[in-house]
Amino acid sequence: MDVSFLLNGQPVSLRDVSPTQTLLNWLREERGLVGTKEGCNEGDCGACTVKVTDVDGAKALNACILFLPQLQGKAVRTVEGLEGPDGALHPVQQAMIDEHGSQCGFCTPGFVMSMATAHGTGDTDYDTALAGNLCRCTGYAPIVRACEVAQELPEPDWMEEPLDSVPDVACSPFLPQSADELAAWYAENPDATLIGGATDVGLWVTKQLRDLAPVAFLNGCSDLQQIEVGEDAIRIGAGVTITDLAAALVPLYPGMRDVFHRYASVQIRNAATIGGNIANGSPIGDGPPVLIALGAELTLRKGNERRSIPLEDFFIDYGKQDRAPGEFVESITIPRKPSQLRAYKLSKRFDQDISAVCGCFNVVVKDDIVASACIAFGGMAGTPKRATQVEAALLGQPWTMDTINAAAQMWAQDFTPMTDMRASADYRLETAKNMLTRYFHDVSGAAIAVREVSV
Ligand SMILES: Cc1cc2nc3c(=O)[nH]c(=O)nc-3n(C[C@H](O)[C@H](O)[C@H](O)COP(=O)(O)OP(=O)(O)OC[C@H]3O[C@@H](n4cnc5c(N)ncnc54)[C@H](O)[C@@H]3O)c2cc1C
Ligand code: FES
Ligand code: FES
Repeated sequence: MDVSFLLNGQPVSLRDVSPTQTLLNWLREERGLVGTKEGCNEGDCGACTVKVTDVDGAKALNACILFLPQLQGKAVRTVEGLEGPDGALHPVQQAMIDEHGSQCGFCTPGFVMSMATAHGTGDTDYDTALAGNLCRCTGYAPIVRACEVAQELPEPDWMEEPLDSVPDVACSPFLPQSADELAAWYAENPDATLIGGATDVGLWVTKQLRDLAPVAFLNGCSDLQQIEVGEDAIRIGAGVTITDLAAALVPLYPGMRDVFHRYASVQIRNAATIGGNIANGSPIGDGPPVLIALGAELTLRKGNERRSIPLEDFFIDYGKQDRAPGEFVESITIPRKPSQLRAYKLSKRFDQDISAVCGCFNVVVKDDIVASACIAFGGMAGTPKRATQVEAALLGQPWTMDTINAAAQMWAQDFTPMTDMRASADYRLETAKNMLTRYFHDVSGAAIAVREVSV
């Protein structure tokens, strides 16, 4: 298929590219641009970070799990494109030298690309911006200092990305431009692999060396990337990234903030879509339990046929979802009703780690009595799952610690979690129980969190 984009300010048109050629391999092997490094090749280390600009602005992304068709119409900037035409360094490069932000240097190109992106967007939350970049030798303090120093200087004018100079390419059925086009093509090609942000699918290629053809990319379907906040409901397109989802939902439901803040890294959140997070059926995805606790419905579409189901019913068993061949996730709808959401993510590391347990609680209390309870967990079963027995034990009862203690034995009826490298079964069950106690204190206004990370 044909793809065009800007590379370091220059138009590039590619013909007949393999749709699963990664940007990292193409840069290094076909363009000789070896400044972008390969560390993990699975989205974990940030050594391959590039800056990608589209009509919505600039984002840091991991080139190792970014396929060339995902760049159609966009502008890519690599570390080679940071210096000015006269060789002047970008402010973040100069600041890294001045502040001693680099030792062995392997991670440095990835760091400076995350820094340059934050510099350009005015993002000063450096802990967050750098959480997806791993450095083994320098330590983060000098790097954060370099960010602070660079932020005092303006973005150089050579960093402008004239998106209107991206050459046109012939339309491709693999890059549909609307949900209608996708629906028609996928109904005819039900064996195809859909690609949202490729934060899962990318690893099938880089780690499992799978041949995925035929594929269809969702990044051209702008109608799948919309969020409509209505009075009765919020409708979220399947192609909405985790970054955009969090930006829209956290102000409405502050209790989900920490989970989305700790969902992978900036680079992954900028790519990963909520549709992919649901469709992959993972029992440890962070999006599904949060949305289930809010009573979300899923809309699936095949051709022109649509059906809506409660999100929890989509997850039938480990690796098995209620999705027919040729059917795709089109949108998620959250009803707007009284809620008291809190979501707690437990993982070994604070940043960039998959949940061992993700507990999401939405208990509404009226006149001190539990009027409704929706509790959903990731990491406790082969699918994201509701704690229906615990919910039943709370419903209609006074909202007190006695009620919570009385529900204690229900947890084992709802869940028989597994032991794996992330946590033991006992630990999972015990922490799930404890999370309800935490929730009780949290919604009553008590301090429940120590700040895990501070500068
Ligand atoms: C380093 C790293 C850290 C991560 N950390 C987390 C984390 O903390 N929390 C978490 O929840 N996840 C995490 N993930 C997993 C991953 O980011 C998510 O599952 C992500 O949301 C998948 O979305 P995507 O758009 O990238 O999906 P893709 O990789 O594009 O697709 C995933 C699957 O869904 C299918 N698909 C995609 N869109 C649709 C659709 N609209 N309809 C039907 N099928 C579709 C694809 O065919 C594929 O089977 C992490 C991944 C990486 C690489
Ligand atoms: S090489 Fe590690 S994130 Fe890409
Ligand atoms: S400078 Fe060596 S890994 Fe960061």
